[in-house]
Amino acid sequence: MQTSIANKVRVRFGRFRRRFPSFKEGAYIYITLGERQVTLPLKERLGKGGMGEVWLSQWEGKKVAVKICSNHSLRARREAGMAGREHPNLMRVLGGGVCECRGLPAFAVISEYIEGANLKEAKAENLSLNARLYIAREVLKGLAYLHENNIIHRDIYMENVVLSKEGQVKIIDFGLVKYNSEEDVEETDPGIIMGNPSRSSPEQLTSSQFSGTYSDIYGWGCLMYYLLFSSYPNADYYALNRKNDGKGAELKSNLPKFLFDLFMASKQREDVVVCDEEKLERANIPPALKEAVKSALFLNPSKRPDTRRLLSIMERLAINEAAAVEEIKEAVARARKAVENAPTQLASL
Ligand SMILES: Nc1ncnc2c1ncn2[C@@H]1O[C@H](COP(=O)(O)OP(=O)(O)OP(=O)(O)O)[C@@H](O)[C@H]1O
Ligand SMILES: [Mg+2]
Repeated sequence: MQTSIANKVRVRFGRFRRRFPSFKEGAYIYITLGERQVTLPLKERLGKGGMGEVWLSQWEGKKVAVKICSNHSLRARREAGMAGREHPNLMRVLGGGVCECRGLPAFAVISEYIEGANLKEAKAENLSLNARLYIAREVLKGLAYLHENNIIHRDIYMENVVLSKEGQVKIIDFGLVKYNSEEDVEETDPGIIMGNPSRSSPEQLTSSQFSGTYSDIYGWGCLMYYLLFSSYPNADYYALNRKNDGKGAELKSNLPKFLFDLFMASKQREDVVVCDEEKLERANIPPALKEAVKSALFLNPSKRPDTRRLLSIMERLAINEAAAVEEIKEAVARARKAVENAPTQLASL
């Protein structure tokens, strides 16, 4: 029986969660980093995603973040491959290696710790337009660096961009990166989808083989659209097209198939933009920004601008950088306070 696109996406994201147990605060992991063995304490869980758990730790006197994944995770190895690639708008990866935790073989990736909050936690969609434009522009700068180095991120969305308490904007989570020059085992299986229905490009949801730097442009368009409207464009486009057939409740499971069909059926069509275009038209934002978002969300990847072109559009917008940084610092402080005041898991038991 053929697996549906929706199922394939679910399999991809659900597999790890089911197989791997959680770690405990106060535990240690022993990582083999090349010739060295390092022991890192797990101090506080920073996040839990499809790929593994991210913990705050300490290494050589500095705070670091450690992502612990299943030993078989190609995603972890891809992320470790980012070590040595440095840019102010990218999380700095320090290294990675096999480890063991609670008797299970695992793989750990050590990165700089960014003391801050991701865009979702910081409720970045509620910031001033100036701050949102600044964030979007900084993300583009990080993407431009990746693309110049033939690397595709493939997972740009709200939780994968972190704001630091100093007001910096950093792309994190390199688990889906594709190094264009290298053979990638997962890439050879067209049945595996590297993405997420709510925010990945239609070509990425069709087959991982179709993804390119243009898929990050689409990801950037989704991020900007979310910052403007608090919703992702894929869902808006789907909802528009399904408005009258009473299938709204099935939105989640139908969306990947819908985008797959759309991509396969009208790849050549020049005019399809995957979003609610009227909503975008009505928005009280500079026309150049509307154009930038619209062009990034073209169904046809070849119609999307490249990072440099998009960056030049964003750089022409009047952005008050100092004001944006101040606003971001406040948003991060608010988000961190909210986390501190939230009842702990223990307290809620
Ligand atoms: N270096 C870091 N410094 C601070 N926080 C981090 C760092 N890395 C990750 N986080 C936090 O942990 C969360 C999950 O991290 P990440 O996205 O890398 O994990 P993931 O397992 O790949 O998640 P998913 O598959 O759901 O995208 C992030 O949204 C962020 O809040
Ligand atoms: Mg992530």
